[in-house]
Amino acid sequence: MNIVFLGLPGTGKGTQAEELAGEMGIPHIATGDIFRQAISQGSELGKKAKQYLDSGELVPDEVTCGMVKERLMQEDAASGFILDGFPRTFPQAEALDQIMDELDKELEKIIFFSAPEQVLVKRLAGRRVCSECGATYHIEHNPPSQEGICDKCGGKLIQREDDQEETVIHRLKVNRDKTQQLVDYYRKQGKLTTVEADRSLEEVKKQLKEAVGSP
Ligand code: AP5
Ligand code: MG
Ligand code: ZN
Repeated sequence: MNIVFLGLPGTGKGTQAEELAGEMGIPHIATGDIFRQAISQGSELGKKAKQYLDSGELVPDEVTCGMVKERLMQEDAASGFILDGFPRTFPQAEALDQIMDELDKELEKIIFFSAPEQVLVKRLAGRRVCSECGATYHIEHNPPSQEGICDKCGGKLIQREDDQEETVIHRLKVNRDKTQQLVDYYRKQGKLTTVEADRSLEEVKKQLKEAVGSP
């Protein structure tokens, strides 16, 4: 199944995508993760993206769209994927439609993660991520069994650079209207399912499974 996760920063896209993609046996493709990996490797892509991620701005569409096209053409995405954090602008949605046409595929489900912004600021302030494997935790809602250490790989947990409150508020501002525009676009096509993302992790997961028809 070809799925898109749409929603403001902190709505839980990454957390849920990681699990659901694992269960469905399809790749979790997160543009933010690809950029962060490129930055840590010091690649050309990383050099282009760094200033935008650090400040909470969007990486230019021409960089992002080309990167996503390349990723979707890889063999592991042939039987489906969860795209997390793309598209994020209207030109990106148009580019994705074109990529899907070229690959003779269709987007089947667009899941919109909806939650009030006050909740998101708190979630991002308490988020911790593994510096080794990228696993996501929350100091209150989803703590690791040992403080500061990843349950999955033993790596050190860190705070994302762009999770400082000022940058979080900026990220929400940058994404607010653009996200709404995409919600309208996909709703008109009858492809949008809204998930109430301010509920518990388990309840959000339940709504998602219903949306994708997975047992
Ligand atoms: P990206 O990495 O995608 O960041 P984002 O969109 O800001 O989203 P987040 O990853 O912050 O939130 P999430 O929804 O994944 O939440 P999570 O599951 O972690 O992008 C980073 C940057 O890359 C952008 O700013 C931009 O510069 C660039 N970029 C990326 N894509 C781009 C694009 N398409 N175009 C241009 N530029 C792009 O959850 C958050 C926290 O809440 C965690 O601590 C989690 O444990 C907790 N939590 C999750 N669900 C629940 C729940 N139900 N109850 C309680 N706590 C919960
Ligand atoms: Mg994420
Ligand atoms: Zn880890």
